[in-house]
Order: sequence, then structure tokens, then C-alpha cells
Amino acid sequence: MKGIILAGGTGSRLFPITEGVSKQLIPIYDKPMIYYPLSCLMLANIKDILIITTPEDQYSFMRLLKDGRDFGVNITYITQSKPEGLAQAFILGEDFIGDSESAMILGDNIFYGNNFSDLLDNACKNAKEGYATIFGNEVKDPERFGIMELDNNLNVVSVEEKPKKPKSNWAITGLYFYPKGVSKLAKSIKKSDRGEYEITTLNDFYLKKNKLKAQLLEEGFTWFDTGTFDSQLDASNMIRTIEINKDKVICCPEQIGYYKGWISKNDLKNRAKVLSKNSYGKYLYKIVEEEK
Ligand code: TTP
Repeated sequence: MKGIILAGGTGSRLFPITEGVSKQLIPIYDKPMIYYPLSCLMLANIKDILIITTPEDQYSFMRLLKDGRDFGVNITYITQSKPEGLAQAFILGEDFIGDSESAMILGDNIFYGNNFSDLLDNACKNAKEGYATIFGNEVKDPERFGIMELDNNLNVVSVEEKPKKPKSNWAITGLYFYPKGVSKLAKSIKKSDRGEYEITTLNDFYLKKNKLKAQLLEEGFTWFDTGTFDSQLDASNMIRTIEINKDKVICCPEQIGYYKGWISKNDLKNRAKVLSKNSYGKYLYKIVEEEK
């Protein structure tokens, strides 16, 4: 299973903040935004990760994440010259994906909640069995999102991009799992009226073949797409509250890499040294001291 983080885009809703820096590099409380989607892919046991950025921002991402060695993953980078839609990730990522199943997560999406690892394991299993998986979260403003309509047995009946008259309140979040062959399908997508290769069109291909499954995020699950001033601040406040209550750092790729055995205790200690001036580094030291 290969993983892609789509971290390009213009970030125009966050101007002037993102006029000089990529949205996915700005902080959500105590870490850069991209740490959250990175943690998510790692929780899904994905070690080979492609990061797609704008050409201008690629170097900054490389400076931050290098080749993934701090977390025990293998990171490679490519650029998207223009933001032409989410499905383009699979066209640009064709060589990287090769003959594997793949997952894609948007660089501005944060997931945190109970049993998330189980949901991710299920989605990986679905992909191996030839099914795509999307994740639904109930929202109060469905016109703003891709929306899935569900039947009584919670099977997906339709998917629509930003519908004027939404058929449900279940937003399709920015995390998608696909079986082998997704790039070939993505290449057959025609641009939409707004000039994008739509992920909803890709999902509709799978739906039409009866190969699309949905996993619903329960009430109490935290999902943020952090593209606006308010959602960025709300997400930061929420992460801070959770971390203070639990006395830990959440969505921490160093910790996930260590628990999965992808980095050694010594690697973790070296990383803790770099971050030692703050609570993030202190948390890493705390894990180093734990008996595993
Ligand atoms: P959006 O939030 O839809 O777009 P944006 O990030 O450019 O922001 P704005 O609407 O404020 O201008 O994108 C969602 C995520 O997907 C975000 O992490 C950027 C990424 N993205 C790309 O990398 N390439 C693309 O072609 C698109 C459409 C989005």
C-alpha cells in the first residue's frame, strides 16, 4: 500500500497568511499542518509516501520532512504545476503507485478519534479486495462538500460534488483508499466545468461498478479541514485541549514510527534532543523513558 499527501493548492482562503508559505506548513497548535495527514497514513501502516506540492514550496517541505528518516518512513516528492483537482494526484503519482493499492489524504485534513486504526485497517483490507473506501462525516453545511447519499444499510447510493440540493449531510472527507489500477481510471476523467479532475468523478466510477464502500466517522470523532481562519484556529484550540487533557502529543509521527518499530529508541532520543526546548520534545523524552 502506497500513500499520497496532496499538499499543493493555492490556499487563497488563508491569504495573506499563505501568500508566502504553503498552507500545509503553517502550524496547527504545536506542529506543522502536514504532520497530521502524515500521522494518518503512518497509522494505516503506510511507509512509502509521496508528497505533492506546488513547485515554489517543494524545497520547504523537503527541508522540514527530509526523506522521512525522523519518522521511519520513505518520503518522495513531486510537484503539481497548477491545482487542477484532487484526482490529478493519481495521474501525477502513477509511477510512484505502480502496481500497488494506494491511499490519498489532503494535506489540510486532520483526523483524530476512537478506533481510527481499525477503520484504516478495514480500508486497507477493502483496497486489497478490490474496493475503494471513502470516509463520511456529518456536517451542517453540506453544500460546501462532496456528499454521499446512503441507503438504510449504509451503502453508498450516490456521490455528488458540492450539490446545491444535498441528498444527505454526510460529507466525504479528504481521505481515500483505492485498489490497484486507480491511476488508469483517473487518467480517463475529463475536467469538470470548474476546470478540475474531480475526485467525486473517480469515486463515482467505483460506485457504478459496485466497488465503493463508505466508513462513517462516529459522533465525537474529530475531523477538520483547516482551510479557513476560523477552522485553523478551531483545530489548534481543539488539539491543544486534547493534548492538555491527555498529557500527550497527538498525531505525532515520531511516536507512531517508534511504536511501530520503524525507528529505534536511539533515533527517538536524537529527535527529542532537536525539539528539547518545548513540550513536544519533552513528550518524546517521556516516551524514550517508557518500558516498551
Ligand atoms: P482546497 O482547500 O480545496 O484548495 P486550496 O488549498 O487551494 O485552498 P483555497 O480554496 O483557499 O484556495 O484544497 C484542499 C486540499 O487539497 C489542500 O490541502 C490543497 C490540496 N489541493 C492540491 O494539492 N491540489 C489541487 O489541485 C487541489 C484542488 C487541492
